[in-house]
Amino acid sequence: PFRIAVFASGSGSNFQAIADAVKAGRLDATIELLVCDRPKAKVVERATKAGIPVYTFTPKEYASRQAYEQDILAELRDRKVDLVILAGYMRILTEVLVEAYWGRMLNIHPSLLPSFPGLHAVRQALAHGVKVTGVTVHLVDGGLDSGPILAQCALAIEDGDTEESLERRIHPIEHALYPQVIQDIVQGAIDLDRVVQANNSITDGMNNQ
Ligand code: GAR
Repeated sequence: PFRIAVFASGSGSNFQAIADAVKAGRLDATIELLVCDRPKAKVVERATKAGIPVYTFTPKEYASRQAYEQDILAELRDRKVDLVILAGYMRILTEVLVEAYWGRMLNIHPSLLPSFPGLHAVRQALAHGVKVTGVTVHLVDGGLDSGPILAQCALAIEDGDTEESLERRIHPIEHALYPQVIQDIVQGAIDLDRVVQANNSITDGMNNQ
């Protein structure tokens, strides 16, 4: 089976959904590691309870982002991790991890990218008055929420929606979509090599103009 590592910073409800899918046999993978930049985050408790190894670190104890990412990378390689799953990991990655796992690192984002990248995507969607928003799963490249899109799910914004009410409807969509996309990768219904190839030819084409 695929060996995955999940990166998260906060509550970890997406981590939980993935761990539950593994346990229920809906996702043919093993979670080798949880990586967390906040040792006291709730997701650490969830992983411990599920018997999943945890690697936590404190960014400000390192000289640079590259330095802590080198340590994470060593950990991922030790554990032979095939696929990195960002699930509410609230740090910008550097080239250290992005290049090592290009085409093998996914992120989930609570908007229909390329709309509303970055922090507070749900708040941004409300502020812009869009009538439809959603969830995106994409490959991670060097930019902010900007890699090739693998899957999206839309949802209508209703009159009177607040950030909280909208998040309450977005979360269950994420919890269904993310394990399903990972399972599609495991089974080959989503072919990451092809996605990477297609993306390279798009950017090549742009450079030639
Ligand atoms: C999720 O809604 C995820 O889409 C979002 O953080 C939340 C984490 O929730 N990620 C981003 O905004 C990334 N830019 P969780 O900790 O309960 O899984």
